[in-house]
Amino acid sequence: MKPVVSDIPVLISAADIASRVEALAEAIAKDYPDDLMIVALLRGSFVFTADLIRALHALRVRPQVDFMTLSSYGTGTASSGTVHIYRDMAEPVEGRDVLIVDDILESGNTLAYARELIESRGARSVRIAVLLEKPGKRVRDVRADYSGFSIDDHFVVGYGLDYAHYFRELPYIGVVKAG
Ligand code: IMP
Ligand code: MG
Repeated sequence: MKPVVSDIPVLISAADIASRVEALAEAIAKDYPDDLMIVALLRGSFVFTADLIRALHALRVRPQVDFMTLSSYGTGTASSGTVHIYRDMAEPVEGRDVLIVDDILESGNTLAYARELIESRGARSVRIAVLLEKPGKRVRDVRADYSGFSIDDHFVVGYGLDYAHYFRELPYIGVVKAG
């Protein structure tokens, strides 16, 4: 059943997210002086990506941005392990320095898949930025080069993350199912 918004407690406030996104942008701006290509994994990363690229812009980074829709989840709260491409990116990544942006690194299935795919297409370098990670849940050997917050094994929503495609619009990260 769909929970109501008033039942979703705040785990990370909008203000805390905003200052952490700025810090991540600073770290990324130091590492990528020019010609960065961002590949944002939809749908969960669209809010994070939107804020991150504007923070990068303020630091004089001028990335190109592309999108890829991947999913390892159905509409439930447990990872299925199989990753599907629903919509591929539009631009070639050959020879590019690519930063993959995702909402959350959990089992690592999604990001391991995305990284291998982009490497196999000839990217010059591939790094990963995530807003959140749940370290206890890793199945694949994949780590984030830039990570916003490490959280316990809760199921969280908001700031782009969903529960059955609801709650992406919440301005904060909230907990729908405590781990
Ligand atoms: P992984 O493939 O298990 O690492 O899962 C990554 C994907 O699962 C993320 O891109 C999210 O879309 C989704 N996901 C994992 N944990 C959560 C959560 O707590 N809330 C919402 N989506 C999640
Ligand atoms: Mg996702």
